[in-house]
Amino acid sequence: MIDINIASKKDVKYISEILELIEGAAKKRGTGIAKRKPEYIEKKILENKSIIATDNGNLIGYCYIESWGHQKFVATSGLIVKEEYRGQGLSKKIKNKAFNLSREKFPKAKLFSITTSIAVMKLNMDIGYKPVTFKELTDDRAFWKGCEGCVNYKILQQTNRTHCLCTGLLYDPKEVEKKEDDDNKTLKVYSRWFKYKFQILSKIVKPKKVLNKAKEIAFFSF
Ligand SMILES: CC(C)(COP(=O)(O)OP(=O)(O)OC[C@H]1O[C@@H](n2cnc3c(N)ncnc32)[C@H](O)[C@@H]1OP(=O)(O)O)[C@@H](O)C(=O)NCCC(=O)NCCS
Repeated sequence: MIDINIASKKDVKYISEILELIEGAAKKRGTGIAKRKPEYIEKKILENKSIIATDNGNLIGYCYIESWGHQKFVATSGLIVKEEYRGQGLSKKIKNKAFNLSREKFPKAKLFSITTSIAVMKLNMDIGYKPVTFKELTDDRAFWKGCEGCVNYKILQQTNRTHCLCTGLLYDPKEVEKKEDDDNKTLKVYSRWFKYKFQILSKIVKPKKVLNKAKEIAFFSF
């Protein structure tokens, strides 16, 4: 049975497996990845900032969230699904749980992700993230320090942290709320307009009369 939960103390036993999965996948893809230490993942688990997926107690997926820049930003990182379980929508479920956890823990924060993975870009954009330049992401040095272990770190340094191979994706709750507000306003205007139009039309055209006339015509035609 597959379980996807917010990780807790009992899940620290999975740490080395999590790191193996993340590093193994990065090597296979030949792309860069921010390296994490076991203590770092342990902290994320103990702080209830991790999502863990298991199948009958065996680790099959993971990701964690962290806040940056005095909780103004939250990033989802380290998303991994074990190879045999890919292509079944598992990362979508993990990511959605991480999104809800981020919104609950840090309701005012902007959520972001940096990735080279098309699948992850798609997952984020389905939730409402938008591609942005790195300038729109956190300037918290501690976050960018995490990139030091990546094979592409030189590029990030050379561009003064403005570009790299990763794409930045951002979910701004204020922008999303504003869009929802605007959509609701538009809906209200349309609904008022339709009500008005219906009232006017029902004064001009009496549906019953029209129907009777139509019946009359039909009777004489046969
Ligand atoms: C990326 C990864 C987590 C996706 O996990 P998954 O469980 O197979 O993904 P899902 O089945 O939930 O698919 C999510 C979406 O991405 C798409 N997708 C999945 N793999 C894809 C790929 N290789 N290329 C393009 N799109 C892909 C799916 O079609 C799906 O879109 P849909 O909802 O429109 O059908 C998994 O492949 C993995 O662990 N890769 C190695 C680690 C990694 O790259 N992590 C990201 C680091 S930022």
